[in-house]
Amino acid sequence: MKASLIKRGSIAARERISPDIYIFTIKEPSVADTCSPGEFVNIAVSGKSLRRPFSVFEAGNGTFKILFRITGSGTRILSNCSEGDELDIMGPLGKGFGQPGENPLFVAGGVGAAPLYFLSLKSTCPGTFLHGVCSSDDYIDLEPVSAKGHKIVAVSEESDNCTVIDILDKYIKDAGTVYVSGPRAMMKKAAEISKSNNKKCFISWEERMGCGTGLCQSCVVKTLHGYRLTCTEGPVFKAESIDWNDC
Ligand code: FES
Repeated sequence: MKASLIKRGSIAARERISPDIYIFTIKEPSVADTCSPGEFVNIAVSGKSLRRPFSVFEAGNGTFKILFRITGSGTRILSNCSEGDELDIMGPLGKGFGQPGENPLFVAGGVGAAPLYFLSLKSTCPGTFLHGVCSSDDYIDLEPVSAKGHKIVAVSEESDNCTVIDILDKYIKDAGTVYVSGPRAMMKKAAEISKSNNKKCFISWEERMGCGTGLCQSCVVKTLHGYRLTCTEGPVFKAESIDWNDC
């Protein structure tokens, strides 16, 4: 592990979006000024031996943001941190999306929106951003995405009785490349629909991680070309390369 990957950052802002969803703004210029959409940081949590991985949600001007939902004791401990607290951060890690081309279609599920939000802000071509959530309490502010010229379509299962997959057919025909991040079943379905419409599709794979740097082998994903490490060879993969039968 390169010592230079480990940084100390401080929480500059802590925003509670819903009872269990948070956005933290973290001041750490060397991560903020070098990370790309799709890359992640591995953050140490007090009392836990393993770090927790978080996609970068937004970055610039010396700070970066993470968007996360409380899914267990580690993220609960993190959510209880306060502004000014210091964090032990490793990153930026992984391989990201690269620059989107024309008519990008971003398909985001829940807090899986994080890497696509960042990607859409970096996109120089206007596209469409689909965001599906379980409850309307879980919506995030997509105004900055809209300000970049992207069309926003947000649906809630609870209020609209549909998911982003239910509306994907309507938007995929005009899409250039499709970028997907969210629950695995949603990504699998989006990959199938992209394939049947002859669209290139990239996904951001979520996996449990230990080291984040290729040492522990805990983050393998089965692809059609063999096993790959999510932390160093992903988390972004071509959807067509994943062995979806194994999911
Ligand atoms: S998290 Fe350890 S090898 Fe990927």
